[in-house]
This record gives sequence, C-alpha cells and structure tokens, in this order.
Amino acid sequence: MSIIKACIFDLDGVIVDTAVYHYKAWKRLANELGFDFTEEDNEKLKGVSRTRSLELILQWGGVTKTEAEKEELAAQKNEWYVEMINHMTPAEILPGAKEFLLTCRAAGLKTALGSASKNSMTILEKINLTALFDAVIDGNKVSKPKPDPEVFLKGAEELNVEPVNCVIFEDAIAGVEAAINGGMKVVGIGSPKVLTGANLVISGLNEMNLEKLSLL
Ligand code: BG6
Ligand code: MG
Repeated sequence: MSIIKACIFDLDGVIVDTAVYHYKAWKRLANELGFDFTEEDNEKLKGVSRTRSLELILQWGGVTKTEAEKEELAAQKNEWYVEMINHMTPAEILPGAKEFLLTCRAAGLKTALGSASKNSMTILEKINLTALFDAVIDGNKVSKPKPDPEVFLKGAEELNVEPVNCVIFEDAIAGVEAAINGGMKVVGIGSPKVLTGANLVISGLNEMNLEKLSLL
C-alpha cells in the first residue's frame, strides 16, 4: 500500500478512443503508398510516437523513404488526423473518465495528462476537459518516448508530487513499462494478458474508484 497523491492519465485509449482516427489516417497513407496493414498491426502503434509509427508502417509495406520524405508523410498523416479530431465532441469521452477525474479532484488528489500525442491540447479542448488537469505533459514537452518514464516524471514534477506517490493510468504496454521505469504505481486499462506488470488492470475508468486506488 502506498499514499497516492496524484493521478496521471494517458490520453489515447484512456480518456478518449482516438486510436480509430490514428488508424484511419495511417491506413489512408499506407493505401496511397500502395499497401495496407491490418487492425492487428495497428495495435503495435498504440502509445508509440508519430515518427516511430511511420517507421513501423513503412517497414510493413517494405517501403524505403528518405528522412525528408518521412517528414512529409508524417505531416500528411497528421493533417488527416487533425481534420478528424477537430470534429470530436464531449460525447466521445470514454465511460467513467470525466467522473473519475472529478472524484480525484474532489478528494484533493492532483491530476495530470501524460501523453505522447502532440495533439493533446486540441483533443482536451474539443472534449472540454482541459480544466480538469493541473498539468498537461504532451508530445511537445518530451524528447524520449515511452517506455522511457520522462513524460510521467515531468508530470510528477509539475504537480510537485514524488513519483512514488503517483499512479499512472495507461492502455499501452509501453506506457505501463514507462510508469514502472519511473517508480510509479500503474493501473492498466485493457487486458491483463497484455498489460503485464501493472498493479491492477481494469477495462475502463468506469471501473475505478477511490477504494481501489487506496489499495494499490
Ligand atoms: C499516442 C498514440 O497517444 O500518441 C499513438 O497512442 C500516437 O498512436 C502518439 O502515434 C502520437 O500522437 P500524435 O497526435 O502526436 O501524432
Ligand atoms: Mg494510450
């Protein structure tokens, strides 16, 4: 048991399900390059940075590109992705996410976002949740991707809470590993078979409450 003083949340797959938009945009890019990839392959892109995602996709298609071309492709994908997230509404907040954030804040716990996405602020504004986070650490503020703990350690620092007193909520194995690497508690959102090493695995934030938090 430990004293939890702060909760740090991943965005994609924890607060909102943007994976489907990432998938559509990457699929369109792959199709324009003359190949396709499966939804199963798409699982490997969760929690992974934009640059690394593109590298994996090009590898699956057996396509080689120069650094300059890769930059253009990533920018094109992002343009399509942003077009889609610009239409997001609060109705797309995953079940229980807003309620649990409010519960944490009412209990005096600090809250932060810890996401690899450079589009985090746009999404938070579209779903009207910006005000529920004391700190937002996104892809623009970090240089080392998960499983490096940088994003979560920066979150703890901005909240002025020791890592050992933080719990991370993550749907990707890279994120669970990042939390462990940072010496933090971690609640996995998804399957216990995939999210090995998490202190607790639940299917969504609608299953989370303060009692479960106190038992971590
Ligand atoms: C993560 C997603 O949250 O952000 C990844 O799980 C995505 O799929 C990554 O590639 C980077 O997102 P963005 O919005 O900066 O391209
Ligand atoms: Mg995620």
